[in-house]
Amino acid sequence: MFFVFIAVQFLLALTAGASTDALISAVQNADDCPSCLALLGAFQEVAITGDDAFITEFTSLCIGLGAADPDVCTGLIAREGPILAHDLRSINTTGQTAEKLCDALLGMCVTHPVNPFTVPFPKPAPAHPKVFTSRGRAPFRVVHLSDVHIDRMYTIGAEANCTKSICCRDFADSPATPTVPAGPNGNSHCDSPVTLADSMLEEIESLNPIFSIFTGDVVEGATWIVDQAEVTSDLQDFNAEMASKLSAPIFPSLGNHDSAPVNAFARTTSNAVNNSQWVYDTQSAGWEQWINRTAASELRIISINTQFWYKQNYWLYDSDVLQPDPNGILAFIVEALQAAEDAGDRAWIIGHIPLGKEDTLVDQSNYYDQVLQRYKNTIAGQFFGHSHKDQFEIAYNQNYTEQTAENAVSVGLIGPALTPTSGNPAFKVYEIDPDTFEVMDASVMFTNISDPNFQIKPTWGLFYSARELYGPLVGLSPTEPLSPAFWHNLTEVFATNDTAFQMWNAFQSRDGAVIACDADCANTTICDMRAFRSENNCDTPSAGFALRKRAGEASHDSDECEGAGLSHILSRMVLSV
Ligand SMILES: *[C@@H]1O[C@H](CO)[C@@H](O)[C@H](O)[C@H]1NC(C)=O
Ligand SMILES: *[C@@H]1O[C@H](CO)[C@@H](O)[C@H](O)[C@H]1NC(C)=O
Ligand SMILES: *[C@@H]1O[C@H](CO)[C@@H](O)[C@H](O)[C@H]1NC(C)=O
Ligand SMILES: *[C@@H]1O[C@H](CO)[C@@H](O)[C@H](O)[C@H]1NC(C)=O
Ligand SMILES: *[C@@H]1O[C@H](CO)[C@@H](O)[C@H](O)[C@H]1NC(C)=O
Ligand SMILES: *[C@@H]1O[C@H](CO)[C@@H](O)[C@H](O)[C@H]1NC(C)=O
Ligand SMILES: *[C@@H]1O[C@H](CO)[C@@H](O)[C@H](O)[C@H]1NC(C)=O
Ligand SMILES: *[C@@H]1O[C@H](CO)[C@@H](O)[C@H](O)[C@H]1NC(C)=O
Ligand SMILES: *[C@@H]1O[C@H](CO)[C@@H](O)[C@H](O)[C@H]1NC(C)=O
Repeated sequence: MFFVFIAVQFLLALTAGASTDALISAVQNADDCPSCLALLGAFQEVAITGDDAFITEFTSLCIGLGAADPDVCTGLIAREGPILAHDLRSINTTGQTAEKLCDALLGMCVTHPVNPFTVPFPKPAPAHPKVFTSRGRAPFRVVHLSDVHIDRMYTIGAEANCTKSICCRDFADSPATPTVPAGPNGNSHCDSPVTLADSMLEEIESLNPIFSIFTGDVVEGATWIVDQAEVTSDLQDFNAEMASKLSAPIFPSLGNHDSAPVNAFARTTSNAVNNSQWVYDTQSAGWEQWINRTAASELRIISINTQFWYKQNYWLYDSDVLQPDPNGILAFIVEALQAAEDAGDRAWIIGHIPLGKEDTLVDQSNYYDQVLQRYKNTIAGQFFGHSHKDQFEIAYNQNYTEQTAENAVSVGLIGPALTPTSGNPAFKVYEIDPDTFEVMDASVMFTNISDPNFQIKPTWGLFYSARELYGPLVGLSPTEPLSPAFWHNLTEVFATNDTAFQMWNAFQSRDGAVIACDADCANTTICDMRAFRSENNCDTPSAGFALRKRAGEASHDSDECEGAGLSHILSRMVLSV
């Protein structure tokens, strides 16, 4: 309470804005849905007076309440604030869009159900779907890399123990003499130095994959500094590095960090001046060399932009009119899958954000699931990143009512990250059946940042093979793929064998950042493994993610990749009072 008093005085000294008192009181009171909507109402009053006033008021609140370092408050709100102000000028602060905004910003008002929508399909599912049969030929190899988060301003010797979301840089407020100097090849408080990324690409090349998939997030996490110029050059640089170090094609997708401001991908309906067209232009130039190339002629790889379903993309809240398919991403997937089905091909879907977690909007997750159910025979694999963890999510038919091996229709394999911020740097290697394009094995390769030699030269090695480790636990026969049924049966093992579950829990971060998981946590975690649709996960936050995290709860269901965005600072503002 004493702190609140000081903070308020400080604020009043900083800004003489007429609505400051109303804002402070709204921030102080925000702890449920109605009070969160009231907070949006107070912010709306300021937004109506213009972006500049909105940025000024919001920034001084952020600094005054100590929600983040002053440079972080200033940079983030200058970048993301105009989008939020635009939203607030465009919506009714008591409507459903406002509720969704409260969910995104503070984890409040999260209970609204799915808005029913039936995804249109050009043709009904075939009565006799094509059967894809393995002839038992030798598998081919594919590498899956994700969340590289390369920090091209990583500075050897800079402070590695700082109060920002990433360190190892000479920030304006860095101490003259670092307490923990950054080593040459990476640190768990910092995004990846170029040397670490290079060493991974060299390791991938030595494994000689037929092709690689990259599920997004090139750009580092200093979200309060990142701008269009940096994102453009970061994307170009990594495209060039992948092209020069990997001789086989790379099939990439866009991550939520691969834009500026972070997470911001405007809907076409926003008519935004600052839309993300420059991202698409940069990546189509960089990816052109790989587009339409594949080593396997009967496999189509469909790369999707999942950011139009991501709660932290604040462009999604600028209208009270519901849009089932912003920017036509679902329509694009349906078209691509129909073409694959017509040709008798199989398809893989690659994207950044898997659809089962609490950070994906329940509407679009539900609609995507309809597409998945319709084309489950064509889709042989789905691959994602974003969580930075080695995970999987299973989809079931019959609306997830019977979660059994027989009803498991698809699985999303989630890649670990290169960035050391969430554990040891890692990537996945798949062995793929050349007839069915199903995954026969999924191995994790890693480098150990705690190894004394890591700073001299990172060395990569096998962490584990899923077939070797988990196969015997479920009684997998030698010719069977790692099918959705296999992954389901593994969740059954985890539910009864805590030793196996705890091993998986530690393996999520490659033993690098293990969060203890008791019986309740295990129950929730296993429920989440069985949720490819976000309405089916067991994350029922009563308060925002950042609120819970600050309160000391384990962040098993967390969105590691959100970084320091608006939700982060607003949650900390609410917490501070
Ligand atoms: C906002 O929505 C509420 C409830 O639906 C309604 O009563 C109110 O008139 C709306 N306000 C505006 C400005 O449209
Ligand atoms: C990092 O800094 C915090 C305080 O800012 C301190 O408590 C902690 O001991 C430091 N860690 C190391 C490894 O120096
Ligand atoms: C649009 O982006 C440019 C460059 O990043 C920036 O200078 C400008 O302020 C932005 N305009 C708006 C309206 O946000
Ligand atoms: C890829 O193939 C599609 C469909 O055949 C074609 O429309 C497109 O122009 C091709 N793109 C490139 C870069 O070759
Ligand atoms: C369950 O899914 C099917 C489509 O697979 C749909 O027709 C049905 O209405 C759904 N039932 C419920 C209760 O949502
Ligand atoms: C990483 O290296 C540290 C220090 O040598 C060691 O204690 C730890 O077991 C290693 N971790 C793994 C997963 O090999
Ligand atoms: C999964 O478990 C079921 C029931 O025990 C069994 O019939 C099935 O063969 C198993 N499938 C796999 C792939 O392990
Ligand atoms: C439980 O899992 C552990 C670790 O994988 C394994 O060694 C053990 O045999 C399993 N126990 C049973 C009863 O299957
Ligand atoms: C989780 O707990 C619920 C309620 O106690 C129980 O019904 C369910 O079977 C548990 N799930 C697992 C995977 O243990």
